[in-house]
Amino acid sequence: MKKLIEFFKDKTVKNVLDVGTGTGDFIAILKEVFPTAHITGVDPNPDSLKEAEELYPAVSFRKMVAENLEFANNTFDVVSISMALHHLPDVQKGLQEIKRVVKSNGWIIVNELFSDNLNSAQEVHKMLHHFRSQTHRILGISHNETFKKNKIIEMIDESGINIHFQFESKREVNLIRNSKDLEFRAKKMKEMLESVKGYSEYELLKPQIDEFREKAAKFGFQPATRVVIVGKKQ
Ligand SMILES: C[S@@+](CC[C@H](N)C(=O)[O-])C[C@H]1O[C@@H](n2cnc3c(N)ncnc32)[C@H](O)[C@@H]1O
Repeated sequence: MKKLIEFFKDKTVKNVLDVGTGTGDFIAILKEVFPTAHITGVDPNPDSLKEAEELYPAVSFRKMVAENLEFANNTFDVVSISMALHHLPDVQKGLQEIKRVVKSNGWIIVNELFSDNLNSAQEVHKMLHHFRSQTHRILGISHNETFKKNKIIEMIDESGINIHFQFESKREVNLIRNSKDLEFRAKKMKEMLESVKGYSEYELLKPQIDEFREKAAKFGFQPATRVVIVGKKQ
C-alpha cells in the first residue's frame, strides 16, 4: 500500500479506527501508514478480537458493529473498513456511522475486494469466497457475495462520502502451488460444508468442492483484486 504511505506522509493523523477489523489483517497496513497514531479496532466477533489482541497489544479493541459505532461524533482522524463492506447487513448505515465518527477534515479508507474483471486464478478465489459466504448466509450470518467494483463506488457516492482518489491493489501470487495447498483449501471447504449439514442446500453445495479442486489445479488461486478508496466526509 505504498500509495497510502505516500498520500498520508505529510498529514497529521493521531487516531485511527478500523471497522470490521477481524483478526487485525489491515492493522498491519495501518501501522505502516500511520506509525505514530493510536489505533482502535472494532468487530462483532469476540474470537477474532481475541486473536487480534494477542497480535497487536498496543491497539485498543472493542466488540461493535459498523452500524452502531459507540463513539462520539467527529472522534477519529481516519476511519478504515477493509474487506468487511460485503459483511455488513446494512452497508449504508455502516457508511453513515463511519462518516459520523470521523472528524470533519478527516479521511475514510475503504479497502474492498471486487468480483468483476478477474483472471482465471482470481475466479477460483471468488468461487471459494462465494462458497463460504453462501454457507454463512444459510447459518444466518450476514455475508454477501463480493460486489462489482462500480457497485462499491456507487454505494460510497450514495453515502455522501467524497471520493478523493482510488486505486486497485492486486497480489500476483499463486496461493495453491502444490497438492498440499490444494488439500488444505479443500479441507476448509469440507468443514464449511459440514457446518450446513441438514440444510436443503447441502447437496447443492457438495459438488462445488470437486469443481474447486479441478479449477484450482488448472488455473491456480490468486486473491481477487481490491479497490482502495480514500474519501472525505465532506
Ligand atoms: C474478511 S473479515 C475482514 C478482516 C480485516 N479487516 C481484513 O482486512 O482482512 C470481515 C470482518 O467483518 C466482520 N463483520 C461482520 N459483520 C460486521 C458488522 N456488522 N460490522 C462490522 N464488522 C462486521 C466479521 O466479523 C469479520 O471479522
